[in-house]
Amino acid sequence: MKLIINGANGKMGHILTKMAGSENIAALVDVKPAEGMFTSLDEFTGPADCVIDFTNHTAIHGVLSYCLKRNLPVLIATTGQTDEELAEIHKASEKIAVFQSPNMSIGVALVADLAERVAKVFGECDIEMIEAHHNQKLDVPSGTALMLAKRIQEAREGATFNIGRHENGKRSPSEIGIHSLRYGTEVGTHEVIFSNGLETITIRHDAKDRALFARGALSAAKWLVNQKPGLYGMRDFLKEA
Ligand SMILES: NC(=O)c1ccc[n+]([C@@H]2O[C@H](COP(=O)([O-])OP(=O)(O)OC[C@H]3O[C@@H](n4cnc5c(N)ncnc54)[C@H](O)[C@@H]3O)[C@@H](O)[C@H]2O)c1
Repeated sequence: MKLIINGANGKMGHILTKMAGSENIAALVDVKPAEGMFTSLDEFTGPADCVIDFTNHTAIHGVLSYCLKRNLPVLIATTGQTDEELAEIHKASEKIAVFQSPNMSIGVALVADLAERVAKVFGECDIEMIEAHHNQKLDVPSGTALMLAKRIQEAREGATFNIGRHENGKRSPSEIGIHSLRYGTEVGTHEVIFSNGLETITIRHDAKDRALFARGALSAAKWLVNQKPGLYGMRDFLKEA
């Protein structure tokens, strides 16, 4: 498999490039390139099977235009997209295979399945979420926390998000509280708490090393290159695991 890695000079790009191995790299791209990297996707016209994007959400228009032009599958691991950017991703997925996940960890995908199941079965309860990441992270709350909250919301009609509760007053029974911590070099922790006053269920995932995201991205990219146009995520990938 020949990959184009966009954001190759970033933290994830470096790990991914090393893990993929030179035989699987078609091109390395970054707006702030290191030696041997392209500055923009458009500069590379050679053969490739898939683009993996670990950049910034503002890059999405260029990434999708390139992939549409070349009919290439794209795995978007970048987080923090606006509603307009998400709509553009949806539209592109009518023509090419797009994989999007704010968290490429298989462990987190399992946490999402478990959280959705608890939300469906556990009955009336308070739902709170805590996420912690390193102090360089830009988006708040994390894309993963939002993904988990949306999965819970799918199972609970009328659930609302309360992001960063800061006002006096009782919590609403229908809200999912989402709280973000930013410190040090924390790779990423997500904890979902369901409590009905009689019992509490806590589901927690600790990412120990960023390499886990690169591993997930490579496995998903291998799977993606054989898919028809459409929008895929970890749920689709896990169905076949
Ligand atoms: N889905 C996941 O599992 C997962 C895991 C880790 C990080 N992320 C996300 O991936 C993204 C990158 O994370 P990081 O920690 O590597 O960040 P980083 O800041 O270390 O690296 C980002 C790189 O992208 C480059 N870049 C920015 N805009 C670009 C553009 N338009 N075209 C090409 N290159 C561009 C930057 O120069 C930088 O080298 C973030 O959105 C982060 O939240 C997702």
